[in-house]
Amino acid sequence: MDSLDAFARTKLDALEVGSLRRRLVPTERGTGAAASRRGRALVSFSCNDYLGLSHHPRVIAAAQAAAAAYGAGAGGSRLVTGDHPYLGALEERLARHKGAEAALVFGSGYLANLGITPALAGRDDLIVLDELSHACMWAGARLSGAQVLTFRHNDPTDLAAILAAHRGRRGQALVLTERVFSMDGDRAPLADILGVAQDHDAWTLVDDAHGIGVVEDGPRAPLEMGTLSKALGSYGGYLCASRPVIDLMVSRARSFVYTTGLPPASAAAALEALAILEEEPERRARPLDLARRFTARLGLPEAESAVVPVLIGEAQRALDISAALEAQGYLVVAIRPPTVPPGTARLRVAFSAAHDAVQVDGLAEALAAMIG
Ligand SMILES: Cc1ncc(COP(=O)(O)O)c(C=O)c1O
Repeated sequence: MDSLDAFARTKLDALEVGSLRRRLVPTERGTGAAASRRGRALVSFSCNDYLGLSHHPRVIAAAQAAAAAYGAGAGGSRLVTGDHPYLGALEERLARHKGAEAALVFGSGYLANLGITPALAGRDDLIVLDELSHACMWAGARLSGAQVLTFRHNDPTDLAAILAAHRGRRGQALVLTERVFSMDGDRAPLADILGVAQDHDAWTLVDDAHGIGVVEDGPRAPLEMGTLSKALGSYGGYLCASRPVIDLMVSRARSFVYTTGLPPASAAAALEALAILEEEPERRARPLDLARRFTARLGLPEAESAVVPVLIGEAQRALDISAALEAQGYLVVAIRPPTVPPGTARLRVAFSAAHDAVQVDGLAEALAAMIG
């Protein structure tokens, strides 16, 4: 045991030196954008609850009713006894929302990416992903055993060059990117990427974790995965695709087959959230409007999504600014490497339909005073 603890301590010390050690902070989220940490009431600009639906009375009531009807847990994997009625209903609604033939719900967005890519690609194949892709896209790509290459962020010309040089020798090829990048908030040039992929007989998987419910315009990819945990205010992941692809996943995506089905409450909550976001276009427009108000106030490039990065650079400086904002009542968590590339520690500001203009202006003013 001593060598195990010594190993852990050495690793932790190294993280501490670079201001890269992570710590849990108990947080109580309330309605609106309210959060409380260490007894202090805060306005949160760090939640991915972009439409404020996690606390919507209809969403909570749906979760409660589903748990009362079918229990707190699914009781088994989907292929055994865990395929409760809310899952099929949610898949039908997700497919309709995305204009896809079919959908499949996974345990989380991370699990979806761990399962989808290895079910489509293996040792003889090629995966080319945007260099800023989320950790779970990388994890799925690596797990597949395929050759993994990256293209420059949002650069279809670089993607074309890589596919031209490497596609020929490989069986299948997959291109992986995100509709909205999680830590930069910018959008992929999807029409161009889909065109390049098609020219090289490659299939495109788009991660729509930060797009659904907020920025949904533009073309759809043949493979669109995402999460129920952000704008939909619940928990879980999904893939929207053609019927044969979804049927293949049911048999071959290991993170679908060998894990328990999503609990009834989570599925029912996401289903209700989807209904609300379709009924309320003004709710969907708010996060981007507020993000643009913020970028205009600070003279930053105009926001493309609900996520706005404020680049700081050094990890410790980002932590210090985050702490100073917290002292003024704003929760804006610092994002550090390896989540973002070295030297690009930042404040990731996330806007929600639950914010009001006064809160957004207050944060902009506080931040302007700190970063000049
Ligand atoms: C781009 C992206 N994909 C996938 C995920 C994972 O989704 P989940 O939280 O449902 O595992 C996240 C964040 O959590 C994300 O930002």
